[in-house]
Amino acid sequence: MRAEERTNAILYEAMNRHHEHASEGHLSFGLWTQSTDDHRDACANLVLSLGRRIGLSRTSRVLDVACGVGAPAVLLHRTFGCVIDGVDLARESVHRARARVRMSGASGAIAIHHGSGTALPFASAQFTHTICIEGADHMRPRRRFLEEAFRTLVPGGTLGLVDSVICRPSRDLMEQAAIELLCRATSVPRANVWTADTYRLILEDVGFVDVAIEHVGHETIGAFYEWAERRGVLSTLSWTDGALLRALARLVRSGLAGYVVIRALKPTSARS
Ligand SMILES: C[S@@+](CC[C@H](N)C(=O)[O-])C[C@H]1O[C@@H](n2cnc3c(N)ncnc32)[C@H](O)[C@@H]1O
Repeated sequence: MRAEERTNAILYEAMNRHHEHASEGHLSFGLWTQSTDDHRDACANLVLSLGRRIGLSRTSRVLDVACGVGAPAVLLHRTFGCVIDGVDLARESVHRARARVRMSGASGAIAIHHGSGTALPFASAQFTHTICIEGADHMRPRRRFLEEAFRTLVPGGTLGLVDSVICRPSRDLMEQAAIELLCRATSVPRANVWTADTYRLILEDVGFVDVAIEHVGHETIGAFYEWAERRGVLSTLSWTDGALLRALARLVRSGLAGYVVIRALKPTSARS
């Protein structure tokens, strides 16, 4: 885990520090509607719509994998009243998430742990729901994370993911090079570039059933990019971050890159 942790720290420690202020601790593209004109609101929309989609309630025992600095966990607890364990690979983010939970007064209901989604530090069959928002694409390998999510869910438990996919084969060398570059720059292993169909097959192979995949590329990455351009946020980003965001938005617009919300169930008959 050490090498993975080092690479992740380079990418996320500074980014999470920045977003602690910029988007009140959320680190996602957010889910944008006609009336959304603020990144924080878009992030909250994304988290809450995922929570509703997987049916969270007061009795839910939730695992938030790649919990970042804890904003999604605090929001989910406040809205649905559920108990949450969060886990993240970035040590500094874990400290920040713990501080956020303390400040929110939810220490009795939310616990934050350091660890990897590929080796979850929990016994089997602990959680009624597991979520991962924009984190699974970094897992090495992502399939191992899905196996760990399956193991730690109770039979009948629900998995909810927000993740990236590829929507069609690259048309030319330029598109291929753009994907390679984005993978490198955002620490996504090439082996994690899956289509939605591959994702479904792997989830089913791991044991999940009733897999539902919704494409939300335009409402997430596309809309975030348009907002950033309209509001002058693009020009405040570093040259590299701006170029990466522009390239990603272009790939979404061209129908090559996509973002998905996934819901899958662990069968009630499953053994952990
Ligand atoms: C885009 S951020 C999303 C954070 C959070 N889910 C949110 O919506 O604000 C991705 C997070 O994944 C975490 N991460 C990357 N690889 C991980 C791994 N193998 N296990 C756990 N967390 C990981 C990073 O440290 C980072 O906090």
